[in-house]
Parts: sequence; structure tokens; C-alpha cells
Amino acid sequence: MLTSGGTMANHAALYTALQSATEFETRESGLRSIDRPGRFTLYESAHEGHSSAERVAEMIGVGSDAIRSVPCDEDLRMDPAALDDMLTADVENGRIPFCVIAYVGSINVSTVDPLAEIADVCADHGVWMHADGACGAVGAILPEKEHLYEGIERADSVTLDPHKWLSVPYSCGCVLFRDPDAQTQAFSMHAEYLDFTEEEAYHGTNLGFLGPEMSRPFRALKLWMSLKHRGVEGYRQLLRQNCRCAEHLHDRVVAADDFEVLQEPNLFIYSFRYLPTDLRDAVADADQREAINDYVDWLNQRITDELRLTGEAFVTTTEIRDDTAIRLSICSHRTTPADIDTTFEALREHGEHIDAEGRKRVDSEFADN
Ligand SMILES: Cc1ncc(COP(=O)(O)O)c(C=O)c1O
Repeated sequence: MLTSGGTMANHAALYTALQSATEFETRESGLRSIDRPGRFTLYESAHEGHSSAERVAEMIGVGSDAIRSVPCDEDLRMDPAALDDMLTADVENGRIPFCVIAYVGSINVSTVDPLAEIADVCADHGVWMHADGACGAVGAILPEKEHLYEGIERADSVTLDPHKWLSVPYSCGCVLFRDPDAQTQAFSMHAEYLDFTEEEAYHGTNLGFLGPEMSRPFRALKLWMSLKHRGVEGYRQLLRQNCRCAEHLHDRVVAADDFEVLQEPNLFIYSFRYLPTDLRDAVADADQREAINDYVDWLNQRITDELRLTGEAFVTTTEIRDDTAIRLSICSHRTTPADIDTTFEALREHGEHIDAEGRKRVDSEFADN
């Protein structure tokens, strides 16, 4: 089903997961019931959860506190053994787990959760597995990345956003369901004014019964045209170009002594930080780290904001393990390694002059105190 974007795709998936957990009974009776006192609960990776999951949890009435954060490994991928333990403990404590969200191309570092292992855990516990691949699901067409996607075919639902990595103009999200009956059971309705009896009545899929929208725009045309225009091979080239840019940026960061690697590159989102050469040793020292990091966080935020304001590059920040990081999401069909070089040099230039100003400020605050 095509949607406005990833948030609404996630909404359709999580709402269906919730309804299917109660055999669709809660559609009419609502979530509260004396026979079912436990809290409906869902799970996602602690570091890489996307804010749309919180919004959807609030929209479907379970509340954002229903989301449990599952510990990650050092590559910021969900730890399936920790998920398994959490599900067991939560059921013992009376909770009602209804969905595990696995990220396929996460928001900060485009990492892919271990899908096959998560699918095993979900199968063992009888819990719906949703793969949120808004950013990265379409990378499954790249043979060299295929290993990352093993197990995605076992998900009960998958979100992917053609308006992200398929370069389709806004807005065009998409959600796929393994069991189309679950989707229609969650969303179909009856209304007398929609009954038709004539012989030529429409017998195809009623798109208004596949999700929350009844009136819907014709999103399929631009998607169909883009698929026809590029074809699988065309998209492979495009996706590879984006991944190459992220890898090129990583190489630049590795080679620089005034930038710091925070995470290896995965797909097309890459996060790192500016770290003046003379602060490296201080950051490595546990006693000084916190104080220096406050300054480095400020520096990275300012560098990114200033570059964005020039209009040269649209760069944002995020947090990686509590550090403010510069985040580049490289999914434009126009971005080349030369643009990455220009952006990197601009970040460095902003870094040098903001750092010089910042040191003066820190020195004068120090003198005042
Ligand atoms: C992992 C993930 N899920 C969901 C979304 C929400 O998508 P949209 O902004 O199209 O609603 C995003 C957007 O960045 C995302 O990265």
C-alpha cells in the first residue's frame, strides 16, 4: 500500500500488528479490558529507534512508554539475545508484546538490524515482526549488500519509502504485508452507501480498506514511471553511487587528524564529528572527557548550522553514543564524491574559524570566573 511516507506506513503496520495480537477484537472493544490487564508492548533498538515509532505508538493508543529499548551491539544493531530475554521477562510480568521493529537502514548510521535472528526470536515468541526500511529496504537489490537483508522476507510487514532511496518526488511511502488478510481485517469497513449489486460491479482490491485513508491521491503513477525509467540496473547504479559517497566520506574522515570516526559506513547515512587535533588526547582521557565533550558538541552543532545556513549543503546533526555528530544523508541522485569533498572542506573551514572564536570565548569565561 502506498502511503504519504514512512510514518503512515509504520502506522498501518503497527496498528495491524496490534489488532492481530488480539484476533482483531480490539477494533471494536478498544484496548482496555478486564480480561486483558497487561500493557501492550513493542520493541526497537535502543540507539537507532526512529521518532515515527513514538508517534505511531501514541496514535494507536498504546502510548510511547509502551516502547521498550533493546540493547545494541557496538555496530548499533539490536542484540537478538537481549530481545529474547526481554520478551520472556515481559510476558512473565504480564505484558503483552505485540510487535518488534527491526530497522533496515537506521536513521543515524543506516545500520541494518540482524533480521534473520530477530525473525527467529519473533517466531519463538509469536510476535509480529515489522521491518522499518523507510531508509534502506530497497538496498536489497544490491547483490553486494544482500547478506545484510537476509531474513527481511520473514517480516510480517515492511516499510520502504520510494521518496527516499528511490528518488521519487514527495510524497510516496509504502508498506508491504506478508498476510494481506491481516491488513484488510484491520482496516475494512462496511457502509451501506458503498454497496453495489450491478453485474459490472468492481471486484478488484478496495484500496480504501487497506489502510486508514479512504480518499487517496494517485501516488502510483510517479513510482511506476520512476521504476520504468531507471529499471533495476539503473537503480543499482544510483544506490551504489550513494554508498560510494558515504564510503568516500568515511575515507576522508579516517585520513584527517581534525575529524573523528564515530561509526563505520553502512548504506547512505554517515555520521562523524569534528575534533580539533589538539583536543584528541584530552578526549581520550577519562577525567577530562566530559568537559571537553561539552565544548566539542557545541562546536559540531555550530559548524553544521553555519554550513546549512550558507545553502552550500544540507547537513544536520544527531547524537551518536551521547556525542553530537555531523550527519550526512546522501541519497540524492545528483550527489557525487566531488560534492562530498567540497562539503568536507567547507566543514573543516567552518570548524577552524568557529573553534578559534570558541576558544576565545572559553578563555574569557575562564578569566571572568
Ligand atoms: C527509519 C525511518 N522510519 C520512518 C521514517 C518516517 O518517514 P516519513 O518522514 O516519510 O514519514 C523515517 C524518516 O526519515 C525513517 O528514517
